[in-house]
Amino acid sequence: VNPVPIIARKRDGQPLSAEQIAEFIGGYARGEIPDYQMAALAMAIYLNGMTTAETAALVQEMLHSGARLSWDGGIQVDKHSTGGIGDKTSLILAPLLACCGLQVPMLSGRGLGASGGTLDKLESIPGFRADLSLEEIRRQVEQIGCVITGTTAELAPADRKLYALRDVTATVPSIPLITASIMCKKLAEGLRALVLDVKWGSGAFMKSPDQADTLARAMVGVGQSMGVATTALITDMNQPLGRLAGNAVEVDESLDCLRGAGPADLRRLTLALGAELLVVTAQEPHLQAAEQRLAAVLDSGQALERFERMVAAQGGQLAAPRPRAPEHLVHADRGGYLTAIDTEALGWTIIDLGGGRRRIEDRLDFGVGLELLVRLGEPVEAGQPLVRLFARSPHAVQAERSIQQALVVSESPIVPPPLIAQRIATP
Ligand code: URA
Repeated sequence: VNPVPIIARKRDGQPLSAEQIAEFIGGYARGEIPDYQMAALAMAIYLNGMTTAETAALVQEMLHSGARLSWDGGIQVDKHSTGGIGDKTSLILAPLLACCGLQVPMLSGRGLGASGGTLDKLESIPGFRADLSLEEIRRQVEQIGCVITGTTAELAPADRKLYALRDVTATVPSIPLITASIMCKKLAEGLRALVLDVKWGSGAFMKSPDQADTLARAMVGVGQSMGVATTALITDMNQPLGRLAGNAVEVDESLDCLRGAGPADLRRLTLALGAELLVVTAQEPHLQAAEQRLAAVLDSGQALERFERMVAAQGGQLAAPRPRAPEHLVHADRGGYLTAIDTEALGWTIIDLGGGRRRIEDRLDFGVGLELLVRLGEPVEAGQPLVRLFARSPHAVQAERSIQQALVVSESPIVPPPLIAQRIATP
């Protein structure tokens, strides 16, 4: 294959055939096409988009780059988020669903763009392994009911490479690339049902509800056409989910939620996403009953116990200390109301502190992050602490400045957007 004419075609805004996509993605997955040519094609796709047929071919090729799990029994389900700041629902939902008798073979990702990554959060637990083999995934799902691990050389290997490349080439916020990345992983899991958490807002890849709607419908369409019962919730990412954002601090907040406590928005969204899966798999007759069942399981401590078993099975030592950088308070320089947050800027601040990658090979500082002490729309007094920052010198001073700029305090109050904007069940 000569990749250059394919890149040129997409650069010039022409659609690619299914064969061209298959040749390119197959060649990239096998290591025959180098990263720099894949990066060029990803940028051309980012700039010029893809038709529905091209996106479908991309999903298929990325799926066929590896194996697809098949199961002897049980009901396999999963949830995937399009990414955001402080979004830790996966850590709570996987064990929670397992406690309801479902099986969750969750393939997750690392930080992507300004967004945090489930695997980075879990790897802040000393010893945690996110590189399980196909056989280990299968065994753990059968024994414990849930696993959270990464793509491998066997499962969705094209996404494994392309995901890391997009992260460092500014090619993340593209509807076809996000659709293919998420759906090839989810289809490789051999699921019966999938719920998608499609974020919109200042900390999401989709900045408007309309863009999120388009992305949600594209992914719901791919899932349903492949025989997976797929629904999506469009949810708010105009402020971090929960109070804590970072890696180790998000494990702490997930543990709070698994103990039946934690921030209200995190708990509510986790229950709503889980309820979708209990209803489409006919475990519960309607969403309200499903949420009640999930809430009771969370409050009973069973989901916490299941999380502990999952972490231990993957080598993690939950009782071992996790890193936490020194604290610094960022204060309001005027009074009023917190009316806007540049949530993406908060994500980049965490990355600049070492909590995410600027290059593929970067090693993370799991102990950095932040705690938002005020929610959107709440009143603020001059001098009041707005954010608790976990940062090491010499980066802390610049991070404090970036956070000041990211939070807008104004005189008039606002009504923050609803946590759950819409439910999408049809393409
Ligand atoms: N999550 C993924 O797995 N891939 C994306 O492209 C975005 C979010």
